[in-house]
Amino acid sequence: MKRITYISNFSRPLSLDDLDSISEVSVRNNKRDGLTGALFCFRNIFYQILEGDEEAVDRCFARIEKDDRHSKVFVLQVEQDIDRRKYSEWEMRTVILDESTDPLMRPIRNLLASLANTHRTLERYTPQRVLEEIEKGGLPDEIASSFQDRTVMFVDLFRSTSIFESWSVENATMILHRFYDTALKAIKEYGGIISKLTGDGIMAYWPRKEAAGALKASARFLADFEQLRARSGESDNPLRLLYAGVGLSTGRVLEGNIGSSIYMDYTLLGDTVNTAARLEGVTRKAGWTLIFDNPTLEAVKENPVSDLPAIRKVGKFRPAGKSEPIEIYTLDLNQLKMTMNHENLQREIQALGNA
Ligand SMILES: Cc1cc2nc3c(=O)[nH]c(=O)nc-3n(C[C@H](O)[C@H](O)[C@H](O)COP(=O)(O)O)c2cc1C
Repeated sequence: MKRITYISNFSRPLSLDDLDSISEVSVRNNKRDGLTGALFCFRNIFYQILEGDEEAVDRCFARIEKDDRHSKVFVLQVEQDIDRRKYSEWEMRTVILDESTDPLMRPIRNLLASLANTHRTLERYTPQRVLEEIEKGGLPDEIASSFQDRTVMFVDLFRSTSIFESWSVENATMILHRFYDTALKAIKEYGGIISKLTGDGIMAYWPRKEAAGALKASARFLADFEQLRARSGESDNPLRLLYAGVGLSTGRVLEGNIGSSIYMDYTLLGDTVNTAARLEGVTRKAGWTLIFDNPTLEAVKENPVSDLPAIRKVGKFRPAGKSEPIEIYTLDLNQLKMTMNHENLQREIQALGNA
């Protein structure tokens, strides 16, 4: 037998009638399928324990996961091969903790609220792939490393060192916040997986067949930066100096866990990763804030999508450690042209710091 314990969030406000109807269906189905357990509801949180024959638990949990009355289903524990039920007397005992006046339920309410908070925090700090594994009840440190075809993205805020050295804490954190918020939203929207934040930059990736998503995300947030600059006016608003560069490269990477029992990271390694980082560096000289390589272009051609802006050849570039130069490309969009040269940007950042 198997037992699953999870928490989730209501996806919308649910009335007592809604909760009653979940309970009714659960009891009816679970009786039929030989399942037992308990369901706690508190504020907007569900906490459920479901146990029984392995196949029946999996089938029922698959239905529950798809239910749009809740979201962010996070598995806390999966117990395999259990030989005894803990809740054999309950087909699905449903307790609405908000309604309960039993003082014994108070610590359970606190426990659920803090569990949900811990999970929300974990969600924001944990690499997506690791979180997926935890949410399934798996062990992230046991994910085997493998070679994968990926489109890797590096994004960097231009002249961040000057920003951090010469601006007030408020201005520096404000520009960082807008930079991350804008770029991360676009990366998520176009299916990217965020690998890490580097202090003034982002590393993200896509499966090779979704390379176009990386181009679209880049075009989106670089255009958003341009909008933020345009709207900031000529004033001392720091957002008028928000410029960033993006490098994309596609190829085989080694993906998996690195580290030791002291500290682990789930990451990508290999030449493609280095090339993406170098191409991000090229954006400082190329006059375009997005640069990608030929394998990325090939990946996009193999998996074409509609409404992708025209692609434009920028020239050739020889990455460090390579004997041959490689062709580099950008998207033919005005918003991706670097309108201010780097010396001026540096001067303006310092001037704003001294103002
Ligand atoms: C938090 C939550 C817990 C649920 N628990 C169960 C359950 O224990 N058993 C069950 O059959 N359905 C449960 N459901 C309902 C299922 O998602 C699904 O709507 C139902 O199984 C469909 O049953 P039907 O095909 O008989 O209509 C739950 C739904 C939610 C939102």
